[in-house]
Amino acid sequence: MARVALASGACRGPRRFAVVFFVLAAAIASLPLTAEQAVARGPFGESRSALQKLVDEAYAKFKDVQEGKNADYIPALAKVPSQLFGIVIATADGKVVAAGDVDYTFAIESVSKPFTMARIMDQQGYEAVRDKIGVEPTGLPFNSKMAIELYKARSVNPLVNAGAIAAVSMLPAKTEAERSAMAIDNLSQFAGAKLTVMKDIFDSEYASAWSNRAIANLLYNYERLYSDPEEAMKVYTEQCSVGVTAKQLAIMGATLANGGVNPVTKKRVVKEEIVDEVLAVMLTAGFYDESGRWSAEAGLPAKTGVGGGIVAVVPGRLAIASFSPPVNEAGNSVRAQLAIKYIASRLGASIFVGH
Ligand code: DON
Repeated sequence: MARVALASGACRGPRRFAVVFFVLAAAIASLPLTAEQAVARGPFGESRSALQKLVDEAYAKFKDVQEGKNADYIPALAKVPSQLFGIVIATADGKVVAAGDVDYTFAIESVSKPFTMARIMDQQGYEAVRDKIGVEPTGLPFNSKMAIELYKARSVNPLVNAGAIAAVSMLPAKTEAERSAMAIDNLSQFAGAKLTVMKDIFDSEYASAWSNRAIANLLYNYERLYSDPEEAMKVYTEQCSVGVTAKQLAIMGATLANGGVNPVTKKRVVKEEIVDEVLAVMLTAGFYDESGRWSAEAGLPAKTGVGGGIVAVVPGRLAIASFSPPVNEAGNSVRAQLAIKYIASRLGASIFVGH
């Protein structure tokens, strides 16, 4: 049509220029993207600004949700301001978009567990974790002692407290200090930043760790713990007390999304071949006795922490992290779950949806 208009001379001066411009722009827009342009548009074809809009939207939509309450069985967690709420998407090619309280440092708690599991799989192989800890979901709360009695594997999987304490006991350390350094350095590598223990959280958690002490002793009794029980439990408590921001948590998840290479530091953190096994255990056990519901509703491997953090991984593409202290009965953050499910559904990111 533009050609007709030009040929007929109906279009002159600035109008003619505008028509030529639009014809050229349309032609350029229909050209296939270069690899660089495709990467710039993001893993789902969204631009950075579209991903930013999505996290802003999720923040606005869920910031006033009032359900849930801060965990208080660890007294220091009860003191964290309940209104804090942050959401971050970190892509496998290193883009980070964020909304809300994304630079606030909070206790990583159980979100640390898959990263220690990944380190043990990296060092000792998936089979060592399967055989010495287990990889089955318990269908029971994270601190269940009944699971230890019910299941032959005892520790059951590395994402419940029993299995996570067993994973810490498998770190190849000769001393408690070495074990502690290994656990924290590992989390730092995933985050691409030097993470440290929040002393107030650790003191509060270690002083009230009677349940975890019982778990460690039970496992030791059943020969399913591989170091001194108090040492394993103490280092596990340190690992849970590590401070992290929602941005750092998203980068930790994006390292798994990126096959074990931190997309910001570009350093390989764990072998690619163990990442799918890590993600599978996260899918089946990352939400404890809510793992089935989470898998059905979000369709993403994820891990929660009683400090209010959750990270979900879209393999090969991105991670979504969110932080908000009020948790539900199972110890999973209410606002963070809503935000992640909303973003995952808007992106069509469930691993069960054909892309
Ligand atoms: O061992 C505990 O009880 C805490 N350090 C961690 C528990 C936790 O984060 C449960 N997850 N939602």
